[in-house]
Amino acid sequence: MLKHNFPPGPEGEGKLGCLPEMRANPMEFLEQVALEYGGIARVNMGDYYSYLVSEPKLIKEVLVDHYDKYKKNTRYKQVRMVIGEGMLLSEGDIWKHQRLHAQPKFTAKSLDKQTDWITSLAANFLDTWKANAYEDNPVELEYQFNLLTQLLAGVWVMGEGFKPRAQTVFNIYNQIRINWPEMTDLRSTLLQPKNLKKEINFRKALANLNKCVYSLLHEYPDIYEKDIGFLKHLLPEDLTDKAAIRKYIKSNKRSLRDQLLTLFVTAFETTATSLCWTMYVIDKYPEVKQRIYDEVKQVIGSQTPTAETLNKLDYTEKVIKESLRLYSSVHSFSRVALEDHEIGGYRVPKDMTVIISSYVTHRLPEYWDNPHTFDPSRFDKQRTVGRSRFAYIPFAAGHRNCIGSYMALMQSKLVVALIAQRYNLTLCSGHKVEKHAATTMRPKYGMKMNVRPLTA
Ligand code: HEM
Repeated sequence: MLKHNFPPGPEGEGKLGCLPEMRANPMEFLEQVALEYGGIARVNMGDYYSYLVSEPKLIKEVLVDHYDKYKKNTRYKQVRMVIGEGMLLSEGDIWKHQRLHAQPKFTAKSLDKQTDWITSLAANFLDTWKANAYEDNPVELEYQFNLLTQLLAGVWVMGEGFKPRAQTVFNIYNQIRINWPEMTDLRSTLLQPKNLKKEINFRKALANLNKCVYSLLHEYPDIYEKDIGFLKHLLPEDLTDKAAIRKYIKSNKRSLRDQLLTLFVTAFETTATSLCWTMYVIDKYPEVKQRIYDEVKQVIGSQTPTAETLNKLDYTEKVIKESLRLYSSVHSFSRVALEDHEIGGYRVPKDMTVIISSYVTHRLPEYWDNPHTFDPSRFDKQRTVGRSRFAYIPFAAGHRNCIGSYMALMQSKLVVALIAQRYNLTLCSGHKVEKHAATTMRPKYGMKMNVRPLTA
């Protein structure tokens, strides 16, 4: 039985409703809404209303119990322009086919087998920081981790052909990021007029990115035989000669591009930002740093990390999980209702946008003691007993959960371990650190750290 027509929530002021507050400080604003109005709230966004669903049992209703009453929110058309109809945005049978086909390549068993080449690329990359260490030149972690995770994601997704293109793709993607167009709904443009120059630069960068991917696809038949990238898995198994592969690629160019770019983009930026925050908390809490360095020394010593040793880094994993609780790189995601129904006794009309924010849910005092305090022991086995699975959602939940969660955790542990074997990183004094909720939750001013070699 319906409690009320609509859930309670803030109206804001005038024609713009809550939009100015939402634009100025989205996460803090949404956290406040949840605290004030409860687990489901209706927020006036000016042109339209959205629901914020923050209570774990209602999140389960949206993502699991009523999953078929929602679709992904694809109103933000720039995302679709970049990644197209890949697994993140596709729906129905296309999504089902992509997900089922990809799943075997994302299992722990399959990914553990790739640890050797991933470790070798990451170790070589991190060794280049030695120059910074000896020249007293700080590293800009956000920049560095984006370079590194792009390299790892690029090779994993597109294979060997990505390596010679890595720097070019990095530069192009930077242009895409810098020129990312602002929201285009009517009221948002009242707050911030459309920037035509940015839009032109965005389109130019996107055209360059496409050119790069298409040239890689064009050359692919020549390296196909010895390649390890996910791209190989996207080609029908019965294609054995170059000419047939070339023909297949030519007639499926756009779909291959979309699937490759979706996996590439979803993999790298999320992991890079999450690594920045993990290194930030490791530096901020000396006792945490000490325990991580001790664990890496005890489990791996000066050996090259392997899947087996990485799986034994229990404490390091808890630190990464706690850092993902407080600094979820995907701070929120949304769905659009396909039909009228109800959640938690409230009406959800067709076309309503429902926002789920891990930032907010990870700070609910009913589920997390001292929610703003960094405490990796929250992930001790005995403390997780009885906690709702939907109270911790850095990788979402339900059938559209993150397919790359194991890969993300594995790569994060690997990078932390390789750093702990080599360096001591400390935040540059005076460097301001603030969260900024963009496509991912980035450090607003980057993350500048001094590098000291461990033996120095
Ligand atoms: C710390 C790192 C990561 C975080 C926090 C993260 C988080 C998320 C979240 C919250 C979603 C759900 C989005 C939504 O429902 O709208 C998602 C989906 C997805 N993620 Fe990740 N992700 C991470 C790393 C990765 C990696 C390494 C990959 C590897 C390719 C990946 C691939 C994907 C894909 C393909 C989807 C769409 C799945 C589907 O709709 O079936 N992610 N991720």
